[in-house]
Amino acid sequence: MRITYCCADTAPEPWLEGLRAALPGAEVSLWQAGAPAADYAVVWAPPQQFFDEQPQLKALFNIGAGVDALLKLRLPVGAQIVRLDDAGMSVQMAEYVCHAVIRHFREFDGYESDMHNGKWSFRKPRSRIDYPVGVLGLGVLGERVAKAVAQFDFPVNGWSRTPKAVAGVQCFAGHDQLDAFLQASRVLVCLLPLTAETRDILNLKHLSLLRSGGYVINVARGAHLVDDDLLTLLDSDHLAGATLDVFRNEPLPPIHPFWKHPKITLTPHTSARTLRSESIAQIAGKIAALQLGEAVAGLVDVGRGY
Ligand code: NAP
Ligand code: GLV
Repeated sequence: MRITYCCADTAPEPWLEGLRAALPGAEVSLWQAGAPAADYAVVWAPPQQFFDEQPQLKALFNIGAGVDALLKLRLPVGAQIVRLDDAGMSVQMAEYVCHAVIRHFREFDGYESDMHNGKWSFRKPRSRIDYPVGVLGLGVLGERVAKAVAQFDFPVNGWSRTPKAVAGVQCFAGHDQLDAFLQASRVLVCLLPLTAETRDILNLKHLSLLRSGGYVINVARGAHLVDDDLLTLLDSDHLAGATLDVFRNEPLPPIHPFWKHPKITLTPHTSARTLRSESIAQIAGKIAALQLGEAVAGLVDVGRGY
C-alpha cells in the first residue's frame, strides 16, 4: 500500500515519520511532481496538479475539519474524501468559545483595561438569562461547544440543517427556523462549514435579528461574515462586540479595519488546531479500516459541500 503526503504550510517530516510508525506495512512518501501512483493521500490545500497526477486514489484524508478549500479543486472520481473527525479539535473549540463568551459576559476585557489604568471599579453583575448563546452548526464541533456553554448555565440555542436533539440546547433547524433562532439569541457563535448556502450568512439582515447588544464569535470561516455589515452594526451599537478567529483573507491584511476596532478581539485562525499525533492515529485507523472494506466516519458529501 502506498500513501502520499501533500500538505501546504506543514513541516512534512514528523507527519511522514508518524504515518510510517502507525502503518508499518505502508510505503509513505512526500509527494513531488511525477511521483508514483498512491492508494491513499494525506492532504491540506494541495495544488490541482497533485490530483491531476493521482486519479487512482481510493481515499484522501484532509488534515482539517473544513473541506471548503479542497472542494474547489477537481478531485479524483471515485475517491472517498475524509475530513478530520474531532481528533482533539472539539475540546480546543469549546475552550476558545467558552473563554470568549465568559470574557464578554463578565466584562473581563473592561476589567483588564481598568487594571492597566490603575482603576478599581466594580461592574454590576449581569444575568445569564439575558445572554442566550446561539450556536450555528451542531456538528462535531458545534455540539461540543453548545454543551460546554450550557454547562455554565447560559440558555443555549442551536441551529443545524437537519433537526437535532441535544440535551440542554433548544434546537432549531433549516432555513425556515433561522430567524426564530437568531431572535432568541444574543451571543452568536458560527461553527458552520463554508458552503454555497452558508457563505455571507453573518450579514446585516441576520445579525440585526440578534437581541440588542449582541456579540458575534466567528470560529468557522471568514467568508461566513460580511465584514462591512459587522462594522455597521458595531458602530450603531446594535452589536456590543465580536471575537474573530477567521478572516476572508488570511493573514488579515495590515490595513483591515478589524485590527484597530475597539470592539473586536482577533486571533490568527487558532481556535482549534490540527493535533499531529491525534490526527495520525485517526487517519491510520481509517486507512486500516478501508483496507478491510469497513466503513469509516467523517466522510464528506461533495454534493452537500461538507
Ligand atoms: P460538521 O461536523 O460537518 O458540522 C457542520 C454543522 O453545520 C452540522 O450541524 C450541519 O447540519 C450544519 N450545517 C451545514 N450546512 C448547514 C445549513 N445550510 N444550514 C444549517 N446548518 C448547516 O463540521 P465541524 O467538524 O463541526 O466543523 C465546522 C467548521 O468549523 C468546519 O467546516 C471548519 O470550517 C471550521 N473549523 C474551524 C477551525 C478553526 O481553527 N477556526 C478548526 C476546525 C474547524 P447537519 O447536522 O444537519 O448536517
Ligand atoms: C481548520 O480551520 C480546520 O478546518 O480544521
